[in-house]
Amino acid sequence: MTTTAYQAYQQAYEQFEQDPEAFWLHKAGRLNWHTTPKKGVSYDHESLSHWFEDGQLNTCYLALDQQINEGRAEQVALIYDSPVTEQKECYTYAELLESVSYFAGALSELGVVAGDRVVIYMPMIPQAVIAMLACARLGAIHSVVFGGFAPKELAVRIDDAKPKLVLSASCGVEVGRVIEYKPMLDEALVLATHEVEHTLVWQRPQYRASMLTPRDIDWCELVAAATQVDAVPLPATHPLYILYTSGTTGVPKGVVREQGGHAVALHYSMETVYGMKPGQVFWAASDIGWVVGHSYIVYAPLLFGCTTLLYEGKPVRTPDAGAFWRVVEEYQVNALFSAPTAFRAIKKEDPEGKLFAQYNTRSLQTLFLAGERLDAATYDWLQSVTRLPVIDHWWQTETGWPIAANPMGLSPLPTKAGSASVPTPGYQLTVLDANGEPCAAYEQGLIALKTPLPPGCLSSIWQNSTRFKQGYLSEFPGYYLSGDGGYLDEEGYVFIMGRTDDVINVAGHRLSTGEMEEVVAAHDAVAECAVFAAKDELKGQVPVAMVVLKDGSQLTQAQLREELVQSIRRRIGAIACLKQILVVERLPKTRSGKILRKNLRQLVDGEAMTVPSTIDDPATLDEISTLWKASQQ
Ligand code: COA
Ligand code: AMP
Repeated sequence: MTTTAYQAYQQAYEQFEQDPEAFWLHKAGRLNWHTTPKKGVSYDHESLSHWFEDGQLNTCYLALDQQINEGRAEQVALIYDSPVTEQKECYTYAELLESVSYFAGALSELGVVAGDRVVIYMPMIPQAVIAMLACARLGAIHSVVFGGFAPKELAVRIDDAKPKLVLSASCGVEVGRVIEYKPMLDEALVLATHEVEHTLVWQRPQYRASMLTPRDIDWCELVAAATQVDAVPLPATHPLYILYTSGTTGVPKGVVREQGGHAVALHYSMETVYGMKPGQVFWAASDIGWVVGHSYIVYAPLLFGCTTLLYEGKPVRTPDAGAFWRVVEEYQVNALFSAPTAFRAIKKEDPEGKLFAQYNTRSLQTLFLAGERLDAATYDWLQSVTRLPVIDHWWQTETGWPIAANPMGLSPLPTKAGSASVPTPGYQLTVLDANGEPCAAYEQGLIALKTPLPPGCLSSIWQNSTRFKQGYLSEFPGYYLSGDGGYLDEEGYVFIMGRTDDVINVAGHRLSTGEMEEVVAAHDAVAECAVFAAKDELKGQVPVAMVVLKDGSQLTQAQLREELVQSIRRRIGAIACLKQILVVERLPKTRSGKILRKNLRQLVDGEAMTVPSTIDDPATLDEISTLWKASQQ
């Protein structure tokens, strides 16, 4: 391909490749630092990389004060739209700054200082955004835990982050249902070994939580007595947040994001990847509990002077599949970012796009999708209904911003079905074979990034650099392994084919089958089990458990199913969606005893099986196939 667009991309990429440090220092120069950095990348005593070590800044200052200095005081910074509570609110930059600086003052009253951790377990309400920015203002390290996680998951994160405070709300509101957060927080604090000094609770009218004095403090009362505080200048390498994400075991990984690289990378991505202009409206229809919410609901739009949208609703049922388009019309949204699963849900209920046609969506320039593979049917439907550029882009919690995308701020490239387009200038992406050698075009392998990772990517795993090195960096020195498999074509387009580990993606939620196996295996009647992902038309993937019962177990399949479903909901949360459980006589294994999970997945998905020659007894797969087919009738 020799289009001008491709040349523009190549030029930008070459500019980066020729001198990565100069490239990034130039991008850094576009922010208003307290002390402008002169150094690009540096390495610590463990050889881990950090960006802009000699710079000082404050992310909250850049997201709010600086925007006001640039004349945006009266521009709307944050729109809150909540169809589940029928509430709508707008905060200008001046109003948001006021709320944030008072709340930062309230946190200071409780003794929170730079470096303290603060866990935020909250629904999609403005107070959650205010809390994140207030932590950033003080240099306190926030760790937001997705509201759909069960108390045990929250407890594990509290024990790892060891926060001084937990911020929460009395409840979340799902469609037609109130989820009482505070009792879950109480339970988590009993389960956790770490003791927090206080909890700060935002009481919502849908449910008033009971408070335990002196530990629990009412949010509004504390803020009413607070005074405003200014942003604290902090080293660029100071952690802005810890965000836990699923790995291959039950212990989540605390991704650490340093504030300098984060601000530079997000600012750059808004322009180059998303093609936005300050003053425009950017809507990431995700949740603040996920990286998409951190980067593209809270920080990036504000750092770039855009208006951001916090939507407490669903793509469907709030009240119908026209919900997204209603929001686009109402707030003149310019770019919408969500997960393919959200659009599959809309497509299912509005296949002909009749609801789409009822709204004036002319403001919308681009649709961005990420979080899971974008299937061809959803891509085609979205394009034919909206007639907009549909941009699949690939990244992960660890990187914090897009690794591969069609860079809308450069000249957009032609899209290719099934591809997240090209590596974003700033990332050096390679596909490696099992020996760490680069793969040829179209040859599938492990997708790796050359180190040092660009600014904004994780600097380590919280309090566990060994896990960072072992999990990502040590297999092939000089490379970060993404955990995704895929290939490049001859023009450098990236095709992501799926995870190479136990991580699965259920409705855009990243979960660990390893963790689910631990929960299933802990059931008294279970001798052994395998949990793996099966394809699902709506959610992309859903977990399936195959279970061998202990001899003498009297449980029926229905009883076992009910108990395991409840264990998973209690231990991980309803979002895990484990519903399909099959009792089998034995599991397929290699002669060395390794369970053949890949073959189980192929069997359930109806794919051709590649059975390894090392299988212990091939008849096992036939037995399970018969049982599975019977269970599906
Ligand atoms: N707090 C508490 N519970 C939550 C929750 C939250 N924040 N989010 C989800 N849950 C619960 C739901 O109530 C549901 O519980 P139930 O099984 O008792 O009904 C369960 O978790 C599963 O919820 P969900 O994954 O939302 O599935 P759904 O079938 O209700 O809806 C979709 C399907 C596709 C509409 C929905 O999954 C969706 O909007 N997905 C998009 C997700 C997304 O944007 N991800 C972006 C990451 S980039
Ligand atoms: P998370 O860390 O929750 O953002 O999940 C990251 C994982 O989601 C990646 O490692 C991929 O497996 C998957 N993913 C994200 N975006 C895409 C995409 N555009 N195409 C395919 N898989 C994706």
